[in-house]
Amino acid sequence: MYTPEMLESIRKVEATRAARMGVEPRRMTAEEKDELLRAFHPDYRPEGFKEIKVGPNKGQKAPVELTNLLHANSRLLSGAPDLNKIDYDVDVLVIGGGGAGACAAIEADEAGAKVMIVTKLRIGDTNTMMAEGGIQAADKENDSPVQHYLDAFGGGHFAARPELLRRLVIEAPDAIQWLNNLGVMFDKDADGRMITTHGGGTSRKRMHACKDYSGAEIMRTVRDEVLNRKIPVVEFTSAVELLKDENGQVTGAVLLNMETGDYLVAKAKTVVIATGGAGRLHYQNFPTSNHYGATADGLILGYRAGAPLLYQDTIQYHPTGALYPSQIYGALVTEKVRSIGAMLVNREGEAFMHPLETRDVSAASIIRECSARGKGVHTPLGDGVWLDTPMIEQLHGAGTIEKRIPAMLRMYMNYDIDMRKQPILVYPTLHYQNGGLEIGGDGFTKTIPNLLVAGEAVGGIHGRNRLMGNSLLDIIVFGRDAGKAAAAKAKTVTLGTPNLDHIYQYADMLKEAGCTEEGVSPLLLPHYARHERKKGEHMREIPVSRITD
Ligand code: FUM
Repeated sequence: MYTPEMLESIRKVEATRAARMGVEPRRMTAEEKDELLRAFHPDYRPEGFKEIKVGPNKGQKAPVELTNLLHANSRLLSGAPDLNKIDYDVDVLVIGGGGAGACAAIEADEAGAKVMIVTKLRIGDTNTMMAEGGIQAADKENDSPVQHYLDAFGGGHFAARPELLRRLVIEAPDAIQWLNNLGVMFDKDADGRMITTHGGGTSRKRMHACKDYSGAEIMRTVRDEVLNRKIPVVEFTSAVELLKDENGQVTGAVLLNMETGDYLVAKAKTVVIATGGAGRLHYQNFPTSNHYGATADGLILGYRAGAPLLYQDTIQYHPTGALYPSQIYGALVTEKVRSIGAMLVNREGEAFMHPLETRDVSAASIIRECSARGKGVHTPLGDGVWLDTPMIEQLHGAGTIEKRIPAMLRMYMNYDIDMRKQPILVYPTLHYQNGGLEIGGDGFTKTIPNLLVAGEAVGGIHGRNRLMGNSLLDIIVFGRDAGKAAAAKAKTVTLGTPNLDHIYQYADMLKEAGCTEEGVSPLLLPHYARHERKKGEHMREIPVSRITD
């Protein structure tokens, strides 16, 4: 399957393996990391960003593709439904059918609220399902939430909102127990104790996993709970705008039936945005590990209604996206592969970094190896580096890969690459939005009464870089808390008359600012245009056309 040039490089990887196995590569100093990030991390490429011209974050920058969506108009400008004709009337409306949305709905239902989930694909067709490596929680004797906080706070460049990160780490052990009790099949040893490993930037082994399909197992379980509770789930239906009343409170949302094209009106006392990430916007033309529906919809809905964004200019590129073969370009190669022993090495078989640096540092280091240092391995989609997977079984014994990372083994076996015997080729892939809508410690947005946000659509939980396993954790912690808070608040809310005034005001602001973006937003489904690629042209260099509907 590998080309002769790749096989030649593999021989060098094999030749250096024994010597590398005895030495742990040195960790970078803080100064080295800062310099590396500034020079090679995509967040520092000015051409990848554009100034936001209107709204609460006016004057700040965001990725070009996100700014284009923020500068586009509502699809309802050309015709809104009759807001007096209510199709759904609930206490709590949850927008999004991933892990955070499901957890919010479960807890709102538990609290006795009338709750409904609306999701543009099917429940579980989301990034949660794609998560692989695990979920962090400080629940072992040698660990503590304080230690977890310190790791995440440092890894996030000291930018996490303390009130959010505090909640994340303190509630983590309970989140694991809750999932365990619901039926998540975590990896356990013969005594029934959870098996935990390191992730990048962790000072203790606190990564709990379900082999390398942790997200799928967690989503399976919370989805079953939603369905068992008979919580209504309206699938293939997108929220396209929030509704507000004369007091500025959120009062529900306008929905679009994706199959019929009909608009529907959902009235709700509280609304939880749990719409996930933005990988399918392909910032800077990166491939993505994200689910098909990850198009930043919730950020657009919330922002147009007046909720500020936080850290919208910081994106996570997972260091190890699959680079070869092209059929799996951008797919996630879980960090767990490194956490159980595989090293990153260049074309010459040299280990150029510690395998468990934080993600932003690891991604930048790989980009440097392939660009400035010219030590990448050539592939049809650009240069990449080796992840020396055969090390795993040499360290831990035959059968480890099949037992611990079976999904990875299967993914590569589909293309006749046996990762137990040969290394695999990787390059960073767009994985996570560190930023999102700003919330307070209670989960509510600060500017729109009764509107909450949970999961990847939130900005500030992780600061400017997230550690592995803290996302599966945040969807559980913040999802559950949002559901409880939304249900409690719904008891006290008196709604006024729903209106869409904010979309007309936003349109006026866009006009005044000279924004003439074509198309409408939220995007809802990714825009995959066909590109003519010249022979030898690097896929990452193909310009993605402006993201409009
Ligand atoms: O590498 C991974 O398995 C990804 C985990 C995460 O983003 O938390």
